[in-house]
Amino acid sequence: MAFTVRLLLFSSLFLLPVSVFAQTNGGIAVGDSLTATAASSSSWLSPSGDFAFGFSPLGRNDLFLLSIWYAKIPDRTIVWYNGAAVAPEGSTVFLIDDSGLVLTNPQGDELWKSETGAGIVAQGVMNDTGNFVLQDINSESLWETFNNPTDTLLPGQTLERGGKLFSRQSVTNYSKGVFQLFLQPDGNLVINTINFVTHFANEPYYATDTGTVAGSEGKELVFNVSGYLYVLRENGGKYNLAVGKAVSARDNYIRATLTFDGIFAQYYHPKNFTGNVSWTILWSEPDDICQRNREYSGVGVCGYNSICTLRRDKRPTCGCPKGFSLLDPNNPYRGCKPDFIQGCEEDELSGTKYLYDVEVLTNTDWPTSDYVQLKPFTAERCNESCFKDCLCAVAIFRSETCWKKKLPLSNGRVDVSLNSQAFIKVRKDNSTLQFPPMPNPDDKKTKKKSSNTLIRVESIILAASIFVSFMFSAAACPGFFFVFRKKHVRSIDNILDSNLHSFSYQVLREATNGFTEELGRGAFGVVYKGTIQIGSGVQVAVKKLNGVIQDGEKEFKTELRVIGKTHHKNLVCLVGYCDEGQHRLLVYEFLSKGTLASFLFADTKPSWTQRIEIACGVAKGLLYLHEECCTQVIHCDIKPQNILLDDYYTARISDFGLAKLLMMNQSHTHTAIRGTKGYVAPEWFRNMPITAKVDVYSFGVVLLEIICCRRSVDADNSREERAILTDWVYDCYRGGMLDAVLVLDNEVQALDDRMKPEKLVMIAIWCIQDDPSLRPTMRKVVQMLEGVVEVHVPPCPSPYTPRTS
Ligand SMILES: *[C@@H]1O[C@H](CO)[C@@H](O)[C@H](O)[C@H]1NC(C)=O
Ligand SMILES: *[C@@H]1O[C@H](CO)[C@@H](O)[C@H](O)[C@H]1NC(C)=O
Ligand SMILES: *[C@@H]1O[C@H](CO)[C@@H](O)[C@H](O)[C@H]1NC(C)=O
Ligand SMILES: *[C@@H]1O[C@H](CO)[C@@H](O)[C@H](O)[C@H]1NC(C)=O
Ligand SMILES: *[C@@H]1O[C@H](CO)[C@@H](O)[C@H](O)[C@H]1NC(C)=O
Ligand SMILES: *[C@@H]1O[C@H](CO)[C@@H](O)[C@H](O)[C@H]1NC(C)=O
Ligand SMILES: *[C@@H]1O[C@H](CO)[C@@H](O)[C@H](O)[C@H]1NC(C)=O
Repeated sequence: MAFTVRLLLFSSLFLLPVSVFAQTNGGIAVGDSLTATAASSSSWLSPSGDFAFGFSPLGRNDLFLLSIWYAKIPDRTIVWYNGAAVAPEGSTVFLIDDSGLVLTNPQGDELWKSETGAGIVAQGVMNDTGNFVLQDINSESLWETFNNPTDTLLPGQTLERGGKLFSRQSVTNYSKGVFQLFLQPDGNLVINTINFVTHFANEPYYATDTGTVAGSEGKELVFNVSGYLYVLRENGGKYNLAVGKAVSARDNYIRATLTFDGIFAQYYHPKNFTGNVSWTILWSEPDDICQRNREYSGVGVCGYNSICTLRRDKRPTCGCPKGFSLLDPNNPYRGCKPDFIQGCEEDELSGTKYLYDVEVLTNTDWPTSDYVQLKPFTAERCNESCFKDCLCAVAIFRSETCWKKKLPLSNGRVDVSLNSQAFIKVRKDNSTLQFPPMPNPDDKKTKKKSSNTLIRVESIILAASIFVSFMFSAAACPGFFFVFRKKHVRSIDNILDSNLHSFSYQVLREATNGFTEELGRGAFGVVYKGTIQIGSGVQVAVKKLNGVIQDGEKEFKTELRVIGKTHHKNLVCLVGYCDEGQHRLLVYEFLSKGTLASFLFADTKPSWTQRIEIACGVAKGLLYLHEECCTQVIHCDIKPQNILLDDYYTARISDFGLAKLLMMNQSHTHTAIRGTKGYVAPEWFRNMPITAKVDVYSFGVVLLEIICCRRSVDADNSREERAILTDWVYDCYRGGMLDAVLVLDNEVQALDDRMKPEKLVMIAIWCIQDDPSLRPTMRKVVQMLEGVVEVHVPPCPSPYTPRTS
């Protein structure tokens, strides 16, 4: 292919007349070409000589850009360029009848070409409007630069729905930048930033809102020849981008450009000028790019962790707060990275006051990154509270309110009207890093921990990824902020690990309206719905524990500490507790979508994809409990009633840690299902050691329930062989008749291999092996679910039990 192109190019080079000199009639013949050379800047001019098409030198490395510019203005202002295909010196652009414009490097390799569809090019025209058009024999347009815009629109040019402008990287680097102007398919004209890695478009920071009202949606963005820029609506109406601002299009060159720093601006330059005249901005949008525009959010124009300052010319300057540095030193719009990462364990070992300083910035805010709001508060307490909180990166204080924020910070900006203070935690210079005096020099354990800390400080970078995932899991408890009048709280300091709040019984009785609305009841106690009154009120689920805690106060606190330290997006978040006399209560976040049981066994079956997501979520939550949190937690009671769903139907395991907390006699609790097969692993009845594998067993049962949308034990089932789900599924699997047990929807056909029902059944059968050593670990289960490891054919789960078929 490349070879034929090369051959074709050389043949056209020799057979056809070659013109490397400037044209004046605007028409360019097929076979003409231009070569990029530093010495002579040949180009194709429009009839008036206003616009030129050709190679623009990029100022260094002998690189050139195929482009269109104003030919009569001394400072080259480029209005169109061919994407990012930078051409080395000696590159050539040809006009070829069946390929249009073809750009090749000196070796003859094709770098870029225009599209011409099926048409045959008769000539190219450099129009006085600044449009380069490829025409066929009937002067019909086959391709034009106006339909392939880059960062600039010219009078006479329109942008259709779906059309985009892209910013360049910097004034002199024409590679694609992070901003786009987009006339969305719904007719709304927006400007937003594009994530550089994923290409995901963030929420717009400017929008014309011409996409909502039927009939008046935007049809196209018009830059008419008089120099007015407006969104033309379907009903013929206009949305003017700038009202009442215009200059004469006859006397001025006019252009509208999406600048490298994210502003969409209209510029003019007098055509008849003498001396040192340059472009003037007529108007620009948005008015203040540093502020979030109405409801639009996203990351902000400066990227994460940065601070945006608006200059007098309404353009942004991006900078990093102390303790942060630019992600890309050459591009301040990519955001900032922290120079250090704080870790809770490290903070605890070394003590925050040895690790951090506090930097104060006035009138600076990151309005969208807070995880907690404290009110009424003083500035000192706000500083203090963030300083001691290992999740807190920055606290903002203003009008008696303290907002604690986590990384990454977004939409940072300076705004003098805020009258706020920002307390930023900055790691002390590592060279002056001190460690706390040993509380007891003879304590071997303390010594060992401190030396670990030294190593940890040096491997901060390695910890970064762990930290980020921790941050995300910590965000699993959003929206909880507690400020109480003092009398309701035993002591604001009487909290465990600063994450858990201690409530008085009285507060919880009021919150639950006297324990009236019951959400559910289980082995560990009854759960009531409640609302904790602060501002608008926060909904919680209050669990009244029954059963006696054998070691009393101390044991309760120890176990709470373990539960309170768990943070994972697939676990229900424990918010606080009450430990008053004989009252033992746990306060959890309230999850709106109820239990997996009610979701799964309802009349309308949830979709296959949704169910798979839930199964993966449960598996990951269990993996975390077994292997990833600081103390291993064996749940012992995994079943659909203990798995809750949040607003987004994410599975959240509840009641973990309670088995140990309540020192339960497990076999006693489950007498109802002893002898039949429920969720309980056979070890419970066989005097075998209880390990994390009991949860794997229960997970296997739950996975089958998810796959089949039915309960594991269905005593009412008219066909006896179907009463026990695990047996029935295995029989069907072995007999190759899985269709009988699966509840599938239409989407399943389209699913990739990872989600195939038979594979999930095989995973479940591995989990329900009678022999615990044959069951995979939860890590292996997650890997199998994610398709990372192969799933082998499972053996019969209970080889020593007589089977019916
Ligand atoms: C240039 O474009 C204008 C507007 O589209 C058109 O009227 C004119 O004929 C074009 N000129 C040439 C030489 O094609
Ligand atoms: C433009 O920036 C990109 C990304 O930073 C870089 O890869 C490229 O080399 C730059 N181009 C020029 C001509 O400097
Ligand atoms: C361009 O648009 C402006 C504003 O809508 C209008 O007043 C003017 O007549 C238009 N010019 C042309 C040539 O259509
Ligand atoms: C251009 O400027 C010169 C000097 O300022 C003036 O004499 C001339 O009339 C101008 N021409 C036009 C077309 O405005
Ligand atoms: C033109 O003006 C700009 C500022 O307006 C200045 O920076 C530049 O040096 C001037 N150039 C000449 C050649 O006078
Ligand atoms: C913030 O709190 C820290 C820790 O107590 C203290 O060292 C620092 O001086 C405080 N800064 C301000 C401005 O209050
Ligand atoms: C301190 O940090 C600098 C740069 O961040 C690093 O080069 C240096 O090795 C560090 N010193 C110690 C003792 O960790």
